[in-house]
Amino acid sequence: MKVGIIGCGAIANIITTSIVPEDNGIEIAYFFDKDIERAENLASLAGGVAALNFDEMVDNVDLVLECASPDSVRHFAPKVLAKGRDMIVMSIGAFMDFDFYTEIEEIAKQNGAKIHLPSGAIVGLDGIRAVAKFGLEEVSLVTRKSPKSLGRDINEIEVLFEGKASQAVKEFPLNINVAATISLACQRDIDVKIIVDPNVDRNVHEITARGDFGEFKTTTMNYPCAANPKTSMLAALSAIRLLKSFNETICVGM
Ligand SMILES: NC(=O)c1ccc[n+]([C@@H]2O[C@H](COP(=O)([O-])OP(=O)(O)OC[C@H]3O[C@@H](n4cnc5c(N)ncnc54)[C@H](O)[C@@H]3O)[C@@H](O)[C@H]2O)c1
Repeated sequence: MKVGIIGCGAIANIITTSIVPEDNGIEIAYFFDKDIERAENLASLAGGVAALNFDEMVDNVDLVLECASPDSVRHFAPKVLAKGRDMIVMSIGAFMDFDFYTEIEEIAKQNGAKIHLPSGAIVGLDGIRAVAKFGLEEVSLVTRKSPKSLGRDINEIEVLFEGKASQAVKEFPLNINVAATISLACQRDIDVKIIVDPNVDRNVHEITARGDFGEFKTTTMNYPCAANPKTSMLAALSAIRLLKSFNETICVGM
């Protein structure tokens, strides 16, 4: 499987350095970034090509992996899917715009392409998907991050946001993809609280779900990526697992 990457930052670096040395049937062949130097650096590390021409990259791969920004999804996803290429999208907040969601779902359907949204920085999505249509009454997310991760200069614990996921992704587009992922998994605008906490050094996500099935709570305490403290290591690891699953015969826990 030939892959092209959009966005050569923290997530792309972790994925590339993990996938490239292994014999796993995945070739990360092209690297695209608005900062060409970043694309060149990662391409030379991986023995791939820094793409100057986006269309040429899409023509020469089976799948495009987006790890850039919600704006890049809005701009590039329609072009990729119109060419019938599958996508993995990390900037999942872009899908909280319902018009955009339906537009690109339609383009993908018409061209036989699939859009994969990895579980990212949280655990528990398998359970949320399973109960979504079976009496799920309440889902909420509490995210707790350090001031550095949230890009704030604050010395005390403070609730930065309390409201719906659709609003959270507008106010924190690069920080709260998990809220979008949970909302899309259960097809409802979930309740979100974002807390900045100078006492934590991890990105912590607590999910609570209640309904006819009972109740579950998950807590994920992620180490931030050194290259980008907004991003958790687990987000990159979930994309690596997803990429590898395409070549597996038996897929567990998907
Ligand atoms: N799904 C999840 O759970 C999850 C978790 C963490 C991060 N993310 C998202 O994944 C994305 C990447 O995260 P990261 O930590 O690697 O970010 P990063 O800032 O380290 O790297 C992003 C790279 O993309 C490039 N870029 C940005 N916009 C672009 C565009 N329009 N065209 C081409 N290149 C562009 C930047 O130059 C940069 O090199 C972000 O949108 C982030 O919010 C998702």
